[in-house]
Amino acid sequence: MRKLCTFTPGAIWPDSNGVHINAHGGGILRRDGVYYWFGEKRAAQASEGINVYSSPDLYNWQYEGVALPPVEGDPDHDITRGCVMERPKVLFNEATGKYVMWFHLELKGQGYRAARAGVAVSDTVTGPYEFLRSLRPNGNMSRDMTLFEDDDGTAYHIFASRDNYDMRICQLSDDYLTPTEKDVVIHGDHREAPAVFKHEGRYFLITSGCSGWKPNEARLDTADSIWGPWTGQGNPTRGPNAETTFDSQSTHVLPVEGREGAFIFMADRWIPGNLTDSRYIWLPIKFEDGRPVLNWIDEWDLSWFDENTGVG
Ligand code: GAL
Repeated sequence: MRKLCTFTPGAIWPDSNGVHINAHGGGILRRDGVYYWFGEKRAAQASEGINVYSSPDLYNWQYEGVALPPVEGDPDHDITRGCVMERPKVLFNEATGKYVMWFHLELKGQGYRAARAGVAVSDTVTGPYEFLRSLRPNGNMSRDMTLFEDDDGTAYHIFASRDNYDMRICQLSDDYLTPTEKDVVIHGDHREAPAVFKHEGRYFLITSGCSGWKPNEARLDTADSIWGPWTGQGNPTRGPNAETTFDSQSTHVLPVEGREGAFIFMADRWIPGNLTDSRYIWLPIKFEDGRPVLNWIDEWDLSWFDENTGVG
């Protein structure tokens, strides 16, 4: 396999076996100098659990296998084969030494009505993860979601609730395994696909509108406290196809290790007829007067940040 040294948003992205990466709605955790990309393993339609890949450089990804497979032969299990597992995010908990995965779970045969969050845990980063439970945080529906770990180690679950009308944030317990009662609505503007990051003490939230697999316009919100108030800043994307987030939907914003102020916007260009083949849109975030802006780039590499980080 030829080594990759650039990102080409929207192209087939071969892993080290030459197979297009199957990690949709994903997120990335860095541990001991290695990046781990967790995402939905998708057949043409079916959900087949959570995949994990590893990379030293963000361009070249080795397939590490299924981190959390659906359960076979137990039709009553929450993650029995036929359930839908989406938007997995993993954090490492320093206090317990465990890797904790949260994901959006829809129970088998119920469409998107169950609106639950699933929690799984592992002693090793690539798993296999042990499924602990599914829940509705403090009784609230939970669909599209992400996790965010703040500088002080406190972690938060950010999720679309009340039939996707509310975006909520809920602080997790110290071991990251359960929701606490610190739980507020960020806004009630019918948004989903949340991705949260922090830069120079400010919090940033990118979301999509709610139009299923069809792309729509992204929106940025900012706050000085994670509890808000969150203020809408409009669409952070610029140029052709900005009204559809370059035909994609946000999933995660990745801080690039060792480069202060360098963040990668990660999104999915869904192919609803063949979800396996859905593409990844990774673009560097530019700060203009402290405000994140996304421009389309056909092909780029991490040296982009040498010229653009901190540019006002
Ligand atoms: C989108 C959501 C995706 C997936 C899809 C199913 O709104 O962001 O993660 O759930 O709907 O139609």
